[in-house]
Amino acid sequence: MKHPIILLPLLFLLILGLLVWHPWRHGDLPAPPPTLTAEPATAPIGADPSTPEELIQTQEEIYGSKPASPDGIGKVYMDREISHVMGHEGINWLERWTREEEEAPSKAIDVLNLKADAVIADIGAGSGYYTFRIAKLVPEGQVMAVDIQPEMIAYLEAKEEELGLNNVTAHLGSIDDTRLDPESIDAALMVDAYHEFSHPREIMESIFTALRPGGRVILLEYRAEDPNVPIKPLHKMTEAQSIKEMEAVGLKWETTHDHLPWQHLMVFSKP
Ligand SMILES: C[S@@+](CC[C@H](N)C(=O)[O-])C[C@H]1O[C@@H](n2cnc3c(N)ncnc32)[C@H](O)[C@@H]1O
Repeated sequence: MKHPIILLPLLFLLILGLLVWHPWRHGDLPAPPPTLTAEPATAPIGADPSTPEELIQTQEEIYGSKPASPDGIGKVYMDREISHVMGHEGINWLERWTREEEEAPSKAIDVLNLKADAVIADIGAGSGYYTFRIAKLVPEGQVMAVDIQPEMIAYLEAKEEELGLNNVTAHLGSIDDTRLDPESIDAALMVDAYHEFSHPREIMESIFTALRPGGRVILLEYRAEDPNVPIKPLHKMTEAQSIKEMEAVGLKWETTHDHLPWQHLMVFSKP
């Protein structure tokens, strides 16, 4: 009967040895998988967690290229070559005194039907020719004057101060993002600007996101169907082309006003 008593310390030592050797104590377990913290640098267009992968389009699938025309950048969107951006040196042309006679902006503004408290984004505002005229119609609202050229932003800010207005915000966007908050605007106005956006799909997606449900896009483009409109070809758009490009981001065409001397005034809505 002596054997079990002698074996007890040996059994104790064996259990202790097993505990000391256990992989937890030695860090022998495989490391947990690393946590993914960084977003991809540039997400593909249309990429959001709910978009099936086969619907996500890349830049190469959305845009084509061709040898650049004299007034174009050689980048093609939905069969249309995108035009050059008009530099800030063109401010005097935008503000020319003959503009009312040539383009009748006051007749365009007449049909906009803006509520006094509406928030309107003037995308590609330039010198603010439309921005400051619209600001008077929304005294309880706001005009977000969006442009990508810092010189235009500086001009807009100086002019707002000169006119003593407090419902205009000059807002610097980027070539592919208006940087407007989601569901923050009632309407987006684009006058003689959309045809020169280098990333039209991304800008329109960003506008779509910024619009409140039922919000409107008001697009003014020189009529490409009319050879008598004295504007370079790539700075004009047909109505059919404009509708095709707006519908590509989910906007619904509502109506086209053709009462202006040179431009289509097209209205779209966010369903
Ligand atoms: C021809 S000007 C028209 C200005 C103004 N809408 C008017 O009718 O007087 C076009 C403006 O669009 C701006 N622009 C070009 N690409 C843009 C973009 N992606 N986002 C915002 N503005 C842009 C240019 O900087 C330029 O000031």
